[in-house]
Amino acid sequence: MSLDLRTTHMKDLGFVIEAEKKASKGGFIILQSLEDHEEFLSDEDVRHLIIESERKPVGYIVLAGLKDENENIELKRIVVTEKGLGYGRRAVQSIKKVAFEELNAHRLWLDVFDFNERARNLYESEGFKIEGKFRESVKSGDERKSLIFMSMLETEYREN
Ligand SMILES: CC(C)(COP(=O)(O)OP(=O)(O)OC[C@H]1O[C@@H](n2cnc3c(N)ncnc32)[C@H](O)[C@@H]1OP(=O)(O)O)[C@@H](O)C(=O)NCCC(=O)NCCS
Repeated sequence: MSLDLRTTHMKDLGFVIEAEKKASKGGFIILQSLEDHEEFLSDEDVRHLIIESERKPVGYIVLAGLKDENENIELKRIVVTEKGLGYGRRAVQSIKKVAFEELNAHRLWLDVFDFNERARNLYESEGFKIEGKFRESVKSGDERKSLIFMSMLETEYREN
């Protein structure tokens, strides 16, 4: 099955917001609004992409830091709507390619909640290294959640 990344357009934002709401209900991401996503689409520092399989949307990705002078690109969002089918792994592989081969990143980084085992396993098995933990850094209702920061350097990408 083919998996493609393509630019997100305004007409895709209904799909994006539905997916975003579901993922945030699961507690895996902090909800961003339609207005936030609209702003991303016109922000030259951001690349917003739809993940497609067989021409149907199965997720989306937000990369930020395209203009960063230190060439640090952030994988700000990845959400897959049909989980456990390998879309996430293939999308992360494509993101690495985009970041290091097209956008000339020196460092590709992300943060992930410590309890998000699926995402952590995916990133670690794709070669991201843990940089540290921001303990109880996010307040969510009565809960305080911890974030793990992870990254990959261009040299590490080229070695694999
Ligand atoms: C995280 C996410 C992008 C992964 O995408 P996916 O398509 O479900 O993942 P894949 O099917 O490609 O599986 C990738 C790996 O995740 C791990 N994994 C899958 N299901 C898992 C589970 N239930 N528990 C723990 N790890 C699991 C495995 O290591 C798997 O590798 P494998 O191919 O060796 O089995 C997706 O589940 C998602 O959108 N989750 C909600 C939003 C989110 O958490 N985004 C990331 C925020 S940092």
